[in-house]
Amino acid sequence: MKDEVMDKYIEAGKIASEIRRKGAGEIKVGASYLAVVDTIEEMVRDAGAGLAFPLNVSLNEDAAHDTASAGDERVFAQGDVVKLDLGVHVDGYIADTAMTVDLGDHPLLVEASARGLASAISMVAPGVTVGELGSAIHEEIESRGFRPVANLTGHGLDRYRIHTPPNIPNIRLNGGAVLEEGMVFAIEPFASTGIGQVSEKHRTEIYQQLAVKPVRLPSARRVLEEIRQRQGMPFSRRWLNEGKLDLALSTLVRSQVIRAYPVLSDVPGSLVSQAEHTLIVTSEGCLVTTA
Ligand code: CO
Repeated sequence: MKDEVMDKYIEAGKIASEIRRKGAGEIKVGASYLAVVDTIEEMVRDAGAGLAFPLNVSLNEDAAHDTASAGDERVFAQGDVVKLDLGVHVDGYIADTAMTVDLGDHPLLVEASARGLASAISMVAPGVTVGELGSAIHEEIESRGFRPVANLTGHGLDRYRIHTPPNIPNIRLNGGAVLEEGMVFAIEPFASTGIGQVSEKHRTEIYQQLAVKPVRLPSARRVLEEIRQRQGMPFSRRWLNEGKLDLALSTLVRSQVIRAYPVLSDVPGSLVSQAEHTLIVTSEGCLVTTA
């Protein structure tokens, strides 16, 4: 990896780590969900960086992909288990990091995903398989009485791209991709009191452009114009000014110009925790950019 690329990954990681910590402090019982999301996203812009995806703030059984809607009236409540998942980029080079804020009394659940992450990171080195990382994560979560979420994984990162190979499983697997020096990826264990599988809810706030195709509908064309500077990175419907937004987005989804990322949830009443860091594989181990 070139030094200047490495420097940008490290810069993005430093900003993401600082804002993750500061942002977590904003999440308190009684605080407005929308105000917290706006505040944290603003911190990224103020730091001179960009958002690699809309700030994800997912509650309780929701594991991922929730963010504030434009008129969101939700308020953080006593007992909430809040996942804060932040993606920062510097010139397209991404740092993806997450933590859980416990507004209830679930220290062991929070510890399970955090220890899973720490254990996997301690094993990262060239020649190690992603299956070994998944097995380490599984062990830490299971030994505390929870289930890892099997159908969510860590993922490789590339310039302006948040999901590239390899996938890093959160469950026990044999073999899989072999780690190499210079690989950049995020490890993100999820621990759950539910079934350890997420499925899509109806709520969708996050989308991503997949293809550049001509569209005729004027509102859809205006939305494409608004999201052009995202360079294919996910965006939030809250960010858009278009008046006929529902029609524009549904048309673009149907014509496969964009895709929807619905909220992903374990079973109702369950609780999910998450921890995530981004790292670069080095000759001896790894450099955690978001530490
Ligand atoms: Co991630």
